[in-house]
Amino acid sequence: MTDKLLQVRNLHGWYGKSHVLQGLDFDVQHGETVALLGRNGVGKTTTMKALTGLLRRREGDVSFDGRATSGLPVHALAAMGLSLVPEDRGIFSTLTVEENLRLAARKGARWTVREVFSMFPAIERRRKNIGGKLSGGEQQLLSIGRALVTGPKLLLLDEPTEGLAPIIVDRLVELIIELKRAGLSILLVEQSIDVCLALADRLLVLDHGQIVWRGTGPELLAAEEVRNTYITLETA
Ligand SMILES: Nc1ncnc2c1ncn2[C@@H]1O[C@H](COP(=O)(O)OP(=O)(O)OP(=O)(O)O)[C@@H](O)[C@H]1O
Ligand SMILES: [Mg+2]
Repeated sequence: MTDKLLQVRNLHGWYGKSHVLQGLDFDVQHGETVALLGRNGVGKTTTMKALTGLLRRREGDVSFDGRATSGLPVHALAAMGLSLVPEDRGIFSTLTVEENLRLAARKGARWTVREVFSMFPAIERRRKNIGGKLSGGEQQLLSIGRALVTGPKLLLLDEPTEGLAPIIVDRLVELIIELKRAGLSILLVEQSIDVCLALADRLLVLDHGQIVWRGTGPELLAAEEVRNTYITLETA
């Protein structure tokens, strides 16, 4: 038994002829939160897509929970516990909050719809409202709730705080800390250094589809040149 939940070796990915991921190597341990940072277009979202089966052409060795994942389709990877909260949140705008959750829920998942409602009272109050009528913050909570009811072992969060008001970001960070405390492992794409410092155990900086720096939050704070070269940070 290894404490590695996710092991990524020499991961490459393409859109058509465009070679976007150029040999990524990293791990996520059980219970760990790892953040992916980097400027726009460096391949953060593509990494998330490659890991969850959404990228059509990928190569390399990715094992999850002790099993090789290559060639497995999206639904099989989701059933293994790889659960993506996409950049666009991906909720059904014409379905109600409750319908969005029930549709995603999987038997045996550690979080039930009821538990998600009790964890996120802000969306329980909106349970009969359609997804399209929610605020940005509520949509983000619903999107995370949907991922939780699928029974994730690794939650992949793609820029969860993007476009949200600071007070909503603070609340979201608290909720993600609660999920960490519950033992959930997280791969996080995030542009805010404050959010990274609050959540991530380790950070990876991407540039042109390669990892160019690895370290902890305090190490990144100290590495001014790395920040200036490879990252657009909202605050410093
Ligand atoms: N569906 C697609 N088809 C073709 N090229 C794409 C597609 N999606 C992304 N790309 C390109 O792949 C590269 C990596 O994109 P990706 O979305 O992974 O970047 P990102 O790091 O998530 O950026 P951002 O911070 O803007 O979200 C970019 O050059 C982008 O233009
Ligand atoms: Mg992206």
